[in-house]
Amino acid sequence: MSKRKILVTSALPYANAGLHLGHMLEQIQTDVWVRFQKMRGHECYYVCADDTHGAPIMLAAEKQGITPTQLVDAVRELHLADSQGFLIGHDNYYSTNSPENKAFAEQVYKALRADDKISSRTIEQLFDPEKQMFLPDRFVKGECPKCAAKDQYGDNCEVCGATYNPTELKNPYSAVSGAKPVLKTSEHYFFRLGECADFLKGWTSGSTTRADGVSQSHLQPESLNKMNEWIEGGLQDWDISRDAPYFGFEIPDAPGKYFYVWLDAPIGYMASFKNLCDSKGIDFDAWFKPGSDAEMYHFIGKDILYFHALFWPAMLNYSGMRVPTGVFAHGFLTVDGQKMSKSRGTFIQAKSYLDCGLNPEWMRYYMAAKLNGRIEDIDLNLNDFVARVNSDLVGKYVNIASRSAGFISKRFGGKLADSVADTAILHQLQAAAPELAAAFEAREYAKALRDVMALADEVNAYVDANKPWELAKQEGQDARLQEVCTVLLNAFRLLTIYLKPVLPKLAEGVEAFLGVAALSWADADTLLLGKTINTYQHLMQRIDPALIDKLIEANKQNMQATANTPAATYELLADTIKIDDFAKVDLRIGKVLACNFVEGSDKLLQFTVDLGFEQRNIFSGIRAAYQEPEKLVGRNVVVVANLAERKMRFGVSQGMIVCASGAEEGSGLFLLDVDQGAAPGMRIG
Ligand code: 2FM
Ligand code: ZN
Repeated sequence: MSKRKILVTSALPYANAGLHLGHMLEQIQTDVWVRFQKMRGHECYYVCADDTHGAPIMLAAEKQGITPTQLVDAVRELHLADSQGFLIGHDNYYSTNSPENKAFAEQVYKALRADDKISSRTIEQLFDPEKQMFLPDRFVKGECPKCAAKDQYGDNCEVCGATYNPTELKNPYSAVSGAKPVLKTSEHYFFRLGECADFLKGWTSGSTTRADGVSQSHLQPESLNKMNEWIEGGLQDWDISRDAPYFGFEIPDAPGKYFYVWLDAPIGYMASFKNLCDSKGIDFDAWFKPGSDAEMYHFIGKDILYFHALFWPAMLNYSGMRVPTGVFAHGFLTVDGQKMSKSRGTFIQAKSYLDCGLNPEWMRYYMAAKLNGRIEDIDLNLNDFVARVNSDLVGKYVNIASRSAGFISKRFGGKLADSVADTAILHQLQAAAPELAAAFEAREYAKALRDVMALADEVNAYVDANKPWELAKQEGQDARLQEVCTVLLNAFRLLTIYLKPVLPKLAEGVEAFLGVAALSWADADTLLLGKTINTYQHLMQRIDPALIDKLIEANKQNMQATANTPAATYELLADTIKIDDFAKVDLRIGKVLACNFVEGSDKLLQFTVDLGFEQRNIFSGIRAAYQEPEKLVGRNVVVVANLAERKMRFGVSQGMIVCASGAEEGSGLFLLDVDQGAAPGMRIG
């Protein structure tokens, strides 16, 4: 078998929240494939990175009072922990906010420009006059132009499903500042995708002959149909620039203009690989030059096909690089037949799954057992998850070892028989290797695992037919008992080889138990005879269904705690301070004597607060949360009493009223309360 060179990626997660099980579905699909290729002896690398740029990340950082770089660095640590927790074996997990990515983005852009594939023109967009920034579609809200539903995003209505331009919204407002957006012009840069139509027609419907002579279609049939529709419908030039303020890379020779996040995101695949090449001494150019014999595959969700099957190959081709060998799209993850839901607790964070004590290999197995090479949604049915893992992995597979290993160690000093006559079952298992390999190669994991479990059924039938526990009680049956258990442990070893791409940690445990080197696919050609093995330690527990209740509860609580926001969007903890630092902030109890709207401001309330020793006039931006100011009169609040006075358009504000708020837009504002007995002017600390 000729050795292939294979570069594999999965989509780069945005660096603004922890990973959820939808991300894990994709990373597991990718990781299984990569581990399989490595077991086959190919030179295969799996690279990924965080997708760090764009306005949402910039604004999220601002809200948390940190720099975007601080935010993306912190989130990368979370993502790494999530992926590693699910045993994802990235060869490199990098960041799009890296010097390699900046250099490649500039290189690609300059090459496209030299090839006359970049144009510029002036466009009109909604602009937030208060925040002084152009608003991305998702940051403009207003009433749906079709059904008049309130608070809809600028690109589509969640109530009636209509899609439209942000400029069509009625009564639009900026989700950043609340201000009414205005139309403003600006020069934008475009990638002339329309001119790439001929190339794209050829690439999307084409295939590449791999180094081993096999032909690989670039797209799955469903993707090809979709791309054909788009190409036939006419390809629009693609807007690749955004105006400052923006977190990203500035465009060469265009001060104040930045690459749109989706331009440098896929280039991040190259950057991550280059970073790996530099650390491992791999020849990057040999992998990325046009016509390279190395293969390159992108595992992605069906929602980002447009970027990967059109923009990305065109960008690569017209900047003088190799193009992808295949784009492998998968469907979405549903839970119990429905879209993942925060209120039902089925929007499950990867971290919470691990924190609840659930074994990552259970989920790897279940997801793999449902995945195939097509673009179908995958349902995680929680009852089925428990039943299937317990029955397949524990009941059928692990049990083979637990029913035979004890006899080998107790009766034969851990030594396997030198030879076995009963080879039929083992030959049957060995003969399955090529078909199983073909299924893994084609990402038909569901089929591969069905076949593996059918083999496990055969092995269990052999156990029942030969009853080692009875042989153990019979006189003169020692040799037979050793042979039967040797057959069983060899069957277990073969099944382990076939399951290893899915269950890498369990396979490690089996390798330690058998005292063998890391199992490769070719090891299925051999048997383990006459060897002294180690004592068997139980390899996998059954799933306790109570853990699933705990998981759902944890994800519901997460949601309540952060009021409609994903779990990992708590604000990052501020730097540690000394007690003296805290003492500098003079917090006092204040009693609200009066509270009114402020004419001309839709954000402020004006308070008159009694601090005991004096009265203060304080403006507070909490009108959105307290629409009936008169109801606040008479209550106690917490005031920063030694804050420097601030002159505002409406008067001087003499302090600040303390409020709780979440990291996310829409998480609300909450005044603090004090227990009975506290009086105005009391110091808090
Ligand atoms: O859709 C997303 O989550 C993007 N962050 C995926 C980027 S994939 C690649 F192009 F970088
Ligand atoms: Zn609508």
